[in-house]
Amino acid sequence: MDLFEYQARDVFEKHGVPVLGGIVATTPQEARAAAERLGGGTVVVKAQVKTGGRGKAGGVKLAHNPDEAGEKAGEILGMDIKGHTVHRVMVAAGARIAEEYYFSVLLDRAERRYLAMCSVEGGMEIEQLAVERPDALARVAVDPIVGIDAAKAAEIVAAAGFAADVAPQVAEVIQKLWTVYREEDATLVEVNPLVRTTDGAVVALDGKVTLDENAGFRHPDHAELEDTAAADPLEARAKDADLNYVKLDGSVGVIGNGAGLVMSTLDVVAYAGEAHGGVKPANFLDIGGGASASVMAAGLDIILSDPQVHAVFVNVFGGITACDAVANGIVAALDILGDHATKPLVVRLDGNNVAEGRAILAAAAHPLVTLADTMDGGADEAARLAHAATAAP
Ligand SMILES: Nc1ncnc2c1ncn2[C@@H]1O[C@H](COP(=O)(O)OP(=O)(O)OP(=O)(O)O)[C@@H](O)[C@H]1O
Ligand SMILES: [Mg+2]
Repeated sequence: MDLFEYQARDVFEKHGVPVLGGIVATTPQEARAAAERLGGGTVVVKAQVKTGGRGKAGGVKLAHNPDEAGEKAGEILGMDIKGHTVHRVMVAAGARIAEEYYFSVLLDRAERRYLAMCSVEGGMEIEQLAVERPDALARVAVDPIVGIDAAKAAEIVAAAGFAADVAPQVAEVIQKLWTVYREEDATLVEVNPLVRTTDGAVVALDGKVTLDENAGFRHPDHAELEDTAAADPLEARAKDADLNYVKLDGSVGVIGNGAGLVMSTLDVVAYAGEAHGGVKPANFLDIGGGASASVMAAGLDIILSDPQVHAVFVNVFGGITACDAVANGIVAALDILGDHATKPLVVRLDGNNVAEGRAILAAAAHPLVTLADTMDGGADEAARLAHAATAAP
């Protein structure tokens, strides 16, 4: 889960990372009042969207007094930045910047450790810097067991080439940012820019934090950081039901067991769809290993309530949960759903106890269910049905 800048600011503050005052506003009036509360002086009005390059897009504006802060907020609110509508701004106390630096720490999956990156040339062009002058961006591996202690922080600032007068201060802030990373179970903490102000303070002026949702059980307080307004309603429902569901744009609902099988089912449906008016998969849904009736019913329920779905392809490979159990699950799920099940279902079963599974579905003879022998055949039939349902009568 990515945090908004204002949320990252609050998390930084909680762990002692030096930040400036920042107040969220959703209207120009609120922004004006926020600037007032910050002392009435110079502030920066910043678009709160979960994408980079806000400054370049005109989403970060300086205001010299509260009236101007209200005006700038009026200009920024409602703006579209790379497809993200600005619903809130943060009114931040204005810093007098002497120098802009860059720091980040992230999960390096390939190396099975963390990676810290740091530069004395921070600011808005860090991606460009990384490409054009990679030497200017220090990359220091971080041992997950040790983390960023005083020695590692010193190594990072030395690698980045900080001047001696500021290096110890930056090293201290880096250790605090590491505390954020570790204590909050983040997979990314990025500060761009980390600045030195004209009066010699080192302050995080921007923050990007990604939290590891798999560690959510350790952080009940993280739930309230979630941007529920932005979540797709079907995805939100699926999440409540503990289902791995991602909404897509097509019309063929897909249910499978195992992420790999579901991914390849999406490919096969998209491929088959080319021969049927270009229909595409409507979602990713992995019901996991134990494809019980209740999980199957919950999954089908969500897919069938997607108005874009016109046919469903259930593609299950029986393993520990054998095909007969899955078939019973499908029959029971259709029972549970009753009149709510209105769209055709193509079912392909294979693997453990496949003959028993098919026999159960054949005996149930549900009018909406068609059995398919192969994955390609099932995808083709589901695509055909979805296309037929949308084609002109
Ligand atoms: N509180 C502040 N006071 C003074 N200047 C600021 C303040 N916040 C940001 N700035 C200036 O604006 C620039 C852009 O701000 P920021 O880094 O927050 O946005 P961005 O980098 O464009 O956005 P993103 O990080 O999403 O790409 C900073 O590099 C800094 O020069
Ligand atoms: Mg930035």
